[in-house]
Amino acid sequence: MEAYILTQNGGIESLQKTTLPTPQPATGEVLIKTKGIGINPIDGQVRSSKEILNIITNGNTPDTVVIGWDVAGIIEQVGPGVEGFKAGDEVFGLINMPGLGKTYATYVTAPAPQISLKPSKLSFTTAAATPMAALTAWQAVVTLGKVQKGERVLIHGASGGVGHFAVQIAKYLGAYVIGTGSAKNESFILSLGADEFIDYTAIPFEQKVKEMDVVIDTVPSVEHVLRSIEVIKTGGRLVYLQPHFQSELATELGAAEVSGYGVFVHSSGKELHEIARLIENGSLKPHISTILSFDELPEAHRLLENGRSAGKIAIAVN
Ligand SMILES: NC(=O)c1ccc[n+]([C@@H]2O[C@H](COP(=O)([O-])OP(=O)(O)OC[C@H]3O[C@@H](n4cnc5c(N)ncnc54)[C@H](OP(=O)(O)O)[C@@H]3O)[C@@H](O)[C@H]2O)c1
Repeated sequence: MEAYILTQNGGIESLQKTTLPTPQPATGEVLIKTKGIGINPIDGQVRSSKEILNIITNGNTPDTVVIGWDVAGIIEQVGPGVEGFKAGDEVFGLINMPGLGKTYATYVTAPAPQISLKPSKLSFTTAAATPMAALTAWQAVVTLGKVQKGERVLIHGASGGVGHFAVQIAKYLGAYVIGTGSAKNESFILSLGADEFIDYTAIPFEQKVKEMDVVIDTVPSVEHVLRSIEVIKTGGRLVYLQPHFQSELATELGAAEVSGYGVFVHSSGKELHEIARLIENGSLKPHISTILSFDELPEAHRLLENGRSAGKIAIAVN
């Protein structure tokens, strides 16, 4: 099979296309013929940092490293003991998070409990761009944020991969949603169902909101997350996407009597099945900003670093 290996931790040139043996599904696993790959910020972080790579692999980094976690494709082969899937099924998943998903390849093995049938209305490319961002949003809004009908929820980075799913999930739950983003993304964020938009480049969000029940903060800055605590009401909840911020937030969370939860997204076919159901019934819609070919995959990392319009970057695989 074709795959991108990481020759070392470093720049985009460290992603090198090569030929590797096609993996065989172990007990409880399926072999997926890749039709789409999703690209996420963590891909670039793991590529460039040995420390982050070792955190993701829990210190068990193999000699040959294939990164990538999001995939959509067709089951080619089913390993022993797999129930609920068969060869020919169209599936998608966030594979082995935490761990190495090895989805930058034309074949991927995946534990069956980590995948779901692909929503029939999504192309493979759009489906591939969905699992990590949508599961992160789900685990932030539903599992940790426990957002309830009628609650006021502020979602930062509402145009981003995670944010655009978080807005839609919070709206689905019946919340009043305020999304932040830059001016160019105002109409996109409102089109997701957000009730209000704040242009963070024009005004500090603290001047526009207060007494929020829940804030979902996707911005990778401790200062930003500390500012979010200021706009949450007593007894409210803060969910942030950089779990290592925890110790730096403890004092302010305690003083404000706000509960803080750091998300570390994990694979879950069960939750992905719920997400697929919302996509099928029209409650959730993934948005893609850019589609590239497998040969252009390194270019996707350049886009990650340069920033782009809205939604997700995905790779179409023939
Ligand atoms: N802990 C976990 O398990 C986990 C999982 C997934 C992602 N993450 C992390 O979460 C972050 C977001 O991921 P993502 O996939 O959503 O990234 P993304 O697709 O690059 O989106 C980030 C968005 O943040 C917006 N933004 C930047 N600065 C902002 C600010 N000061 N205020 C409001 N919005 C701002 C940008 O919108 P504009 O273009 O409008 O500025 C951009 O759309 C990344 O740091 C990622 O590493 C963590």
